[in-house]
Amino acid sequence: RTSVRHVLSAGLKWSGAPVTVAGWVRTIRKQTTMAFVELVDGSTIKGLQVIVEEDKIGFAELQAAATGASLKVVGTIVESPGKNQAVEIKATTVEILGECSPDEYPLAKSRIKLETMWPLAHLRVRTKVVGAAARVRNVLAMATHEFFQGIGCQYVHTPLITASDCEGAGEMFRVTTLLKEDGLVSEIPATDDGHVDYAQDFFSKPAMLTVSGQLNVETYCAGLSSVYTFGPTFRAENSHTSRHLAEFWMIEPELAFADIHDNMACAEDYLKHCVSTVMAKCSEEINVFDQYVAPGLIDRLYNIVESDFTRITYTEAIRVLEAAIAAGDVSFEKKVEWGIDLASEHERYLCEQVYNMPTIVYNYPKDIKAFYMRLNDDPEAPAPTVAAMDVLCPLVGELMGGSQREERYDVLVERLKEDNMPLEPYWWYLDLRKFGSVVHSGFGVGFERLVLLCTGLGNIRDVIPFPRYPGEALF
Ligand code: 4AD
Ligand code: MG
Repeated sequence: RTSVRHVLSAGLKWSGAPVTVAGWVRTIRKQTTMAFVELVDGSTIKGLQVIVEEDKIGFAELQAAATGASLKVVGTIVESPGKNQAVEIKATTVEILGECSPDEYPLAKSRIKLETMWPLAHLRVRTKVVGAAARVRNVLAMATHEFFQGIGCQYVHTPLITASDCEGAGEMFRVTTLLKEDGLVSEIPATDDGHVDYAQDFFSKPAMLTVSGQLNVETYCAGLSSVYTFGPTFRAENSHTSRHLAEFWMIEPELAFADIHDNMACAEDYLKHCVSTVMAKCSEEINVFDQYVAPGLIDRLYNIVESDFTRITYTEAIRVLEAAIAAGDVSFEKKVEWGIDLASEHERYLCEQVYNMPTIVYNYPKDIKAFYMRLNDDPEAPAPTVAAMDVLCPLVGELMGGSQREERYDVLVERLKEDNMPLEPYWWYLDLRKFGSVVHSGFGVGFERLVLLCTGLGNIRDVIPFPRYPGEALF
């Protein structure tokens, strides 16, 4: 079997060659003496035109075939008289592998809305847009490994089950076991007074799904120097937005001997590498998105590759927002003053209206950021700041969040206490600051948000195969 992508990219070079292709019917037109099938196999966004004449094997059976049916075609590659493609297939044999009833098939109609397909996660990848997003996602995953391996980072697999809340935001899913007692499944062992008895549970203490691999990857950074993790993370935030999922993939590099400025440079290089790789390897998908789904996408992607990202401190960002409000250029729902956590309306105004390019905001107020971020010596700020950074992108908002880490044992202990966090669960994390501590930094990239950025799609549920969100019927 040859893939549709292969046949189309070889084009006229293979004219006259025998070929076997297999895939699914995107469209079919039947006439009395001929049938025209557009065959797709997911290797490219394009379909391959197949011509079947009435004297060919399988012509009669093809009369029953409809959109979605699977076919195997044996034939010859010929020059196409049509203007949409260089070549097409003249079939000698067509075999229907699996029928697809148009009355029952939920995707029989064309132009189905993306949100209509959320409950059809098992079928929707067969559509042009969802299939194209899946190919872009695949290319971005490879581009991620290419980039980090290329700068000498080693890939580390961090655990999904954990006892520590990296972000301290309390947005963790609990993990429990279904214990078998006398063949019965009891949900959670309970004490006499009805409380959960962790001593009897699988891990003997509360276990959660990780919200970030960072704390674990920091341990490997303190031995391998330059590392990254790339895997699923979980957040039990009850957000019904187009940018949040309960289960998403995150890329988290961690670089030893690197400060916040090295971190920003790495984030910018990484994003540029991803975007230019997608433009080179998924040009057909990007063209279709630009034309039908996300006007202006190609310009935005060029802009990312070609511009030097804006880098401003949080304090400057607040000043810019306040000045814009004072000048009557903009009004926001949420109040702007030094000390607030920037809301997505503020972030998007900065990177879309003010700078029109990815914008890195750094040195945030200590009080709104996680305990592990390095305390700055920042006398000009109204209150203490930490070496945190967020990468904000047009249409997506926050794409990455990271920081230089607090490498000083005493300062870190103080910080945990200030945030009313227990020290005991972090004993191993504190050890890293006792034994050969080094300056180090890292960041987390929301992988689905990166796919949104590169496809121009508007909803995060369309760029992950099986989206998990509050109220979703799992399967
Ligand atoms: O900003 P966050 O919470 O940072 C961390 O977790 C750090 N520990 C990362 C690090 O320094 N190693 O999350 C990082 C990114 C965000 O910028 C966002 O793109 C994405 O993860 N993200 C989500 N994506 C989809 N759904 C959610 N619920 C997300 N929450 C965060
Ligand atoms: Mg963040």
